[in-house]
Amino acid sequence: MEFNIITLFPEVIDFYCSSSIVGRARKNNIMSVNTINPREFTNDKHRTVDDTPYGGGAGMVLMCDPFFKAVESIEKKQNSELIILTPSGETFNQKLVQELSNKEQINFICGHYEGFDQRIIHGLQPREVSIGDFVLTGGEPGTLCIIDAITRLLPGSLGADESAIEESFSEDLLEYPHYTRPAEYRGMQVPEILLSGHHANIAKWRKKQSVLATIKKRPDLFEKFKQKQLTKQEKEILKEIEETRGEE
Ligand code: ADE
Repeated sequence: MEFNIITLFPEVIDFYCSSSIVGRARKNNIMSVNTINPREFTNDKHRTVDDTPYGGGAGMVLMCDPFFKAVESIEKKQNSELIILTPSGETFNQKLVQELSNKEQINFICGHYEGFDQRIIHGLQPREVSIGDFVLTGGEPGTLCIIDAITRLLPGSLGADESAIEESFSEDLLEYPHYTRPAEYRGMQVPEILLSGHHANIAKWRKKQSVLATIKKRPDLFEKFKQKQLTKQEKEILKEIEETRGEE
């Protein structure tokens, strides 16, 4: 997997992509990260990348030429995606992470300031992606979210003890709670079952906790979960929850 990021702030990308699990995956050549600064494609003394908006108004708008040239400088691979980060794009989620994890190359355009010239979208036809219904000052945090979420799905990026299989959203359920030593902390006990060593019971308890957390915090996800082909154990858990609810 090759990530190329067109950004006016390459140091932001480099710092994150050199740390922790993403940094390790990069070091182990599971993926690569390259930054391209649009300022490199300017000819004036001040290396200008933005200008005032036609029609007036506040703020500055990123210009076409440095961004077109930056995109054109990338050696495009066959199975490649060009993404532009914008609050008006499709909302990023785990399904999109999975889809993108099958690409060979992902190229990102990070906007900044008031926005970018619309012809960057019209002419380059990137996929517009938003990381949520809020407005950031630039595309870099969104790009890092996407790189991070994809990297952890790439084979070899997580250790055996950092499994990406059992996790929130992979099956429309939130994660079950985790505990580590000590068994009691400030009067709070680790649930007894986790100390029992009974693996089958622990697995069922964890699944039930996942279902309960999803019902409580994300009823929308729970509705999706119920539509799925459920296992015998999942049906049993739903029945148990239904029964104890009746008792309340
Ligand atoms: N740039 C500014 N806000 C953004 C958002 N919510 N998602 C992606 N890119 C952005």
